[in-house]
Amino acid sequence: MAIPQHTIDQILDRTDIVELIGQRVKLKKTGRTYSGCCPFHQEKSPSFHVYRDKQYYHCFGCQANGNAIRFLMDIDNRNFIDVMKELSSHTGVELPKDNHDNKKLSYKREAVKPQPKTELKTADSQAAQIPHEPASSIDIDPFEAFQNYSDFDNFDPAQFGDEGFHQAPIDGNLYDLLENIAQFYERQLPNSKTAQQYFRHRGLSTETIQYWRLGYAPEDWQHLEKAFPQDVEGLKLLGLIRTSDSGRDFDLLRDRVIFPIRDSKGRVVGFGGRALNDEIKPKYINSPDSEVFHKNQLLYGLYEGRKDRAQNWLMVEGYMDVIALQQNGISGAVATLGTASNADHLNILFKQNSQITIAFDGDAAGQKAARRTLEIALPLLNDGRELKFFVLPKEHDPDSLIRKEGLETFNRLWQQSPLLSDFVFALLSQNYEIATPEGKSQVMAELNQLTELLPKQGSYRYLLRQFFKEKLGFNKKWQPQISLDATLSFKQNMGNEEFAIAILMQHPFLYIHFEVLRAFIDPNELLAQILAVFDRIFDELPDDQELATYYILGACSAYHLELSDIMQRTNIQAFTEAPEMADKLASDYSLALQEKYLKQKLKSPISLSESRNLRKQLNELTRQISLKLVHN
Ligand code: UTP
Ligand code: MN
Repeated sequence: MAIPQHTIDQILDRTDIVELIGQRVKLKKTGRTYSGCCPFHQEKSPSFHVYRDKQYYHCFGCQANGNAIRFLMDIDNRNFIDVMKELSSHTGVELPKDNHDNKKLSYKREAVKPQPKTELKTADSQAAQIPHEPASSIDIDPFEAFQNYSDFDNFDPAQFGDEGFHQAPIDGNLYDLLENIAQFYERQLPNSKTAQQYFRHRGLSTETIQYWRLGYAPEDWQHLEKAFPQDVEGLKLLGLIRTSDSGRDFDLLRDRVIFPIRDSKGRVVGFGGRALNDEIKPKYINSPDSEVFHKNQLLYGLYEGRKDRAQNWLMVEGYMDVIALQQNGISGAVATLGTASNADHLNILFKQNSQITIAFDGDAAGQKAARRTLEIALPLLNDGRELKFFVLPKEHDPDSLIRKEGLETFNRLWQQSPLLSDFVFALLSQNYEIATPEGKSQVMAELNQLTELLPKQGSYRYLLRQFFKEKLGFNKKWQPQISLDATLSFKQNMGNEEFAIAILMQHPFLYIHFEVLRAFIDPNELLAQILAVFDRIFDELPDDQELATYYILGACSAYHLELSDIMQRTNIQAFTEAPEMADKLASDYSLALQEKYLKQKLKSPISLSESRNLRKQLNELTRQISLKLVHN
């Protein structure tokens, strides 16, 4: 059984690797990753790490690594198909029946009709013989060895005499056909003045047109059938040829500029066609879903963005937005294919970077879309994932904004776009009279509904509620002004216990970031004693942030004087105003302190093996810290 890549991807997307491995290995959250003792070799201190966003595990002791499939194969010594069957039943993603899928990728080609040789040499029929580009090398598939290839790929023409070759109808492969069609549309562009003018009018350069492989579908009703006479069955499977009620076949895309759509490996899998003027409806026609084209799991521009090693990913609405941004130097813009964005789309983007931005039009429809996307996105926000909302100025889409205002303005507006917390506050507060107690409680009620959607584990829901209360003036802690000097000194104090204590007292739920320190810290430190108190009562903390703080203060009453002194000197509230900021600071502080304690331990008299072990941990920490520096 050959399992197509999109099915493997879909199964991996829907498998939570932390949960899966967590059933076999005791994992502990350490910052943004999970760690435990490696199941593939003997060890006492944990060097096995699981990265949820990357859906990947790595052991720094024995170098075992891979994805969920690899894990199950190695831990139980099972084969690929066996593991895929299990994951398929867990995720509900169906596997192709035996050999079924290969059949689906192939179609019957009609035998070449006896034709004079010269006719075979026309540009189009030559194109039909060109094999498709090999898959891009950026997407290494470790399981390729397990995949069978289609009959067509295994076909060896040398087995047949010249005559036999021409008469035996060879099965066609849909990917090859799509590639040939893309080349056909590309070659039609120079023949159409209007199509060229259209692209020029929209500001696209020749390089851009070539980069995105833009083309033109001619007006003729049967141009594909004429260009690919042997492949009518394939064209129909792709939905590019339709049959009218009277039984006549005709092309889906006619007299339209063509946007070929590539999958994450760079293979052409479908087409979008835009009308040459705005009077023609519909404005865009996309080829329908097919065996190789699954709109719900594809993003236009993903392949190109990854090839360009894009860092900042931006979800926009249309093909033209993606293209205009790329031409202006912004790689990493992606668009859905005429469908609303779903959780799979967002997960794909979160795998590229844990911080992503979604752009919305500034009109009412854009607002509605933003709210809907918010509800899809909330359940996905775990482990430091961050979402920004780029609301565009009225009457603009990204394409028009960057063309009229330029790259600098575009980037500035993008940078200023609010984090989820601010965005949600603005969204909810504009609907109510927030100066009144009734309005405040309505906002809180609506917020509580939204935060119910957030993942259960994790501190984000508490932080968000706290943030709202402070903004609404439920307590006096909110201080909107952050002085730059203070931020500076705060950053310089990284690795200082007092700041860690202050963060903990202010945001008790951030204990999850600091818990790991208990293994390293000198028990005489005040922080160690506070952590011990947290360890005792953390599971009983009330859900409400403010109550939790009082609860903790009560439990730490023995240290009352030291604590109030620290709270005053650190002025912590000012820095943890945004929930995302508090979370980040806590995890940064925890890492810095871990590093500090490890270094201290290494200086004390210890055995050689312990020292080796500590050094390994230190290396891993340093790596995590530098990774974070890159991302922030
Ligand atoms: P928009 O209608 O917002 O247009 O479509 P746009 O991207 O600004 O298009 P231009 O700039 O006028 O060319 C956004 C996306 O919605 C899908 C397409 O994927 C398009 O890129 N769409 C739009 C359709 O699928 N069908 C339509 O009729 C219109
Ligand atoms: Mn537009």
